[in-house]
Amino acid sequence: MKTEEPRTIYLKDYRPSPYLIETVDLDVALAPENTRVRSRLKVKPNDDPDAPAGPLTLDGEKLELHSVKINGTPINDYTADDQSLTITSPPEGPFEVEIETTCNPQANEALEGLYRSGGIYCTQCEPEGFRRITYFIDRPDVLARYRVRVEADKREAPVLLANGNLVEDGDLDDGRHFAVWEDPFPKPSYLFALVGGNLACVQDSFITKTGRAIDLRIYVEPGKEGRCGWAMESLKTAMRWDEERFGLEYDLDIYMIVAVSDFNMGAMENKGLNVFNDKLILARPDIATDTDYESIEAVIAHEYFHNWTGNRVTCRDWFQLCLKEGLTVFRDQEFTADQRSRPVKRIEDVRLLRARQFSEDAGPLAHPVRPSSFVEINNFYTLTVYEKGGELCRMLHTMLGEDGFQAGMKLYFERHDGQAVTVEDFVAAMADANDRDLSQFMRWYNQAGTPEVVCRFEHDASEKTAKLHVTQVHAPSPGQPEKEPVPIPLRIGLVGPDGEDMPLILKNGSEVPGGLLMVTEREQTFEFADVAHRPIPSLLRGFSAPVKLSSPLDDADLDFLMRHDSDLFNRWQAAQTQAMKRLVAMARGEGEFVPDVREFALAVGPTLTDDWLEPAYRAAFAVPPSELDIAQEIGADVDPTGVHKARRDLRATLGHTLQGDLQRLYEDYAVPGEYQPDPDSVGKRSLRNTALALLAAEETEDGVKRAQTHFKNADNMTDSMAALRILAGLDRPERDEALETFYDRWKDEQLVLDKWFAIQAQSTASDTLDRVERLRRHPAFSIKNPNRVRALIGALAHGNPLHFHSADGRGYEFVGESIMEIDGFNPMIAARLASAFSSWKMLEPGRRAMAQQMLERIAAKEGLSRDTSEVVGKMLG
Ligand code: PHE
Ligand code: ZN
Repeated sequence: MKTEEPRTIYLKDYRPSPYLIETVDLDVALAPENTRVRSRLKVKPNDDPDAPAGPLTLDGEKLELHSVKINGTPINDYTADDQSLTITSPPEGPFEVEIETTCNPQANEALEGLYRSGGIYCTQCEPEGFRRITYFIDRPDVLARYRVRVEADKREAPVLLANGNLVEDGDLDDGRHFAVWEDPFPKPSYLFALVGGNLACVQDSFITKTGRAIDLRIYVEPGKEGRCGWAMESLKTAMRWDEERFGLEYDLDIYMIVAVSDFNMGAMENKGLNVFNDKLILARPDIATDTDYESIEAVIAHEYFHNWTGNRVTCRDWFQLCLKEGLTVFRDQEFTADQRSRPVKRIEDVRLLRARQFSEDAGPLAHPVRPSSFVEINNFYTLTVYEKGGELCRMLHTMLGEDGFQAGMKLYFERHDGQAVTVEDFVAAMADANDRDLSQFMRWYNQAGTPEVVCRFEHDASEKTAKLHVTQVHAPSPGQPEKEPVPIPLRIGLVGPDGEDMPLILKNGSEVPGGLLMVTEREQTFEFADVAHRPIPSLLRGFSAPVKLSSPLDDADLDFLMRHDSDLFNRWQAAQTQAMKRLVAMARGEGEFVPDVREFALAVGPTLTDDWLEPAYRAAFAVPPSELDIAQEIGADVDPTGVHKARRDLRATLGHTLQGDLQRLYEDYAVPGEYQPDPDSVGKRSLRNTALALLAAEETEDGVKRAQTHFKNADNMTDSMAALRILAGLDRPERDEALETFYDRWKDEQLVLDKWFAIQAQSTASDTLDRVERLRRHPAFSIKNPNRVRALIGALAHGNPLHFHSADGRGYEFVGESIMEIDGFNPMIAARLASAFSSWKMLEPGRRAMAQQMLERIAAKEGLSRDTSEVVGKMLG
């Protein structure tokens, strides 16, 4: 096999496919090491003048080719290598190609294409996995209708599934059987799926708004049927929500979900046959936390929403990935906000965006929401494409309003149902439906980096006017030295001395609807009239744009907003800003700020104990910025140990200063009765467990005892994990006791064991790296299982900055060695782990040198995958 030259692919080089495929007839005979695939394709030349016919090239990887026929006759004027099959001179006009190949699902450890997970055959085709099943024009703008016949040994695989409707099944000789599935909707190959195995089925049904009954099925490992209830409820809730809020109805008569235990990502939206990482399906109060319940609800919804935003209207090419992902993330965020607390959901999303996307955008892996080039598309399933992509849809929603946005969606589906389209098509639908010019908005899709918005505010008491000066600053990012100003929806309020919002009246006398200003220039000034008293400007309410705000507010202003802002997001933001100022000073060792940490803690108290506010919000209010956020704020020569200590001390001060309040909250917010995952109970547990953790932050006897008791008395996984997280961070015998008890109780539950691994890998206890090395050799650990890798190695690399950045380099060593090993069989997982090094350049010199050395070692590894070499190359470059 020749080694492939990594080749950069450019958006500007896009050309339509010279050939189109109308129908695909697959005949798959499943066998562990030797699965035979016969494919019959109806091919026709594309009449697009930009795509002249010529040789027909089909993609294919890791396939054994047995025969090629054209219009029923075997041919040999073709060439094949490890990436493709080229038919040199195909006939003119439409023709039929028949190809027979075999592949080896058992040996497939990359988990792309057809593989086996716990004895179950399943497929993962997005983005380019279909070419590992058969030769095909494996690109999303080739849409075909599929008919799939699957056969297998009936004992090994009693259940045989593929996309669409079951049209035939029956028994064969030799204990084999078959099933034939037909999908009436043309689809790109990345949405193909096939499953075979011994699976149990949980069934339910849903009546759509037009009265059609949809058969709903969740397939799981036999014995796990009792853990699918929440996933099924979530599916029905999501289906109803999409009808009510977006007017979108499900289109097939059956919707199937299969849960597997080896999966590279969270879940996959294959048409009518989603495949899920089982951690996002299986739930029961004793094994899943509130967070697990919420993730299951959100991901079930996300994949379901893809049926319209992704499947019915799909992407022309992979540069347009955000077209389906950003939009679907926005839709799932709105879904959760409608089910649960809107402000808390917004806070959680912004926290994730800041900690992970902003750092991506500020480092060597920065790329636009719609990239213009890539080497390996697998590397672009990023926070930028997903989360920032979601923020761009949210800005459109903010600018156009709910009705305007829905009008745009309606036009988008009217124009493009059944097509593979671009971001331009989406934005054009939004613009045309609202008679708006959104051409400047395209810059958001094409420019990388987080814009900085600098605000200055002036009040003139004698004139009763106020001015807001806004400047947008765009730092250069890789390949983009210069940038143009973007349109920024800036939602603001002027908070008067009584804590109430003052009317926002422009100098010309018109009121600003919804407090929404549009910043379109590099520098802009807004003037307000009738401002009798000096107000405090509350800027970027609801985080109305994904920017970094430099605000003009001093401590007294922020303290006021922290207590009074009617915008709950900004009230939380004021507390975050206050905390951040102190954290940065403490991390830099500027001791003089330490005294006002107590002042800050006292200012948190009133919100924490305000019974008018939702408990979930109050809990979120007391969580300081993450270590990743603090590191970014510092920006250069970061000492992760100092950052960790600063945050730990701030939390200890919160616990100490608010002790009385926290104790009362802990007592008052016990949730009586049987565990329920409803938002109200979740909020109460969250507030109570926040109190528990803050009370233990100082590691007082009393705090530790309370955590121990909480652990012993827990009758659900949420409480159990909340206590265990505290205990696992202690350098005391109570830690080992708790971890052992937990292990003994749960050693046969794989998903709970993942939690057990993760909690130790994230522990701040001093011997964490020794422990992680031991766990790496634990019999329950498997480097081949992505969930385990994420639980142990991922949790350390992405979730434990203190020990990953250990000053002796051991964290880098451990993670780096693991990356090199994993790269040998699962490049996608290896490359994702490698991104943990992405902010190495902002570390202090000692760690910087060690991180660089590790990256150089990885880069030099022989046979390094295209995935990992692209990521590591960019980080070093
Ligand atoms: N498209 C999946 C989603 O819903 C994610 C995914 C990408 C899964 C690639 C597997 C492989 O976001
Ligand atoms: Zn998605």
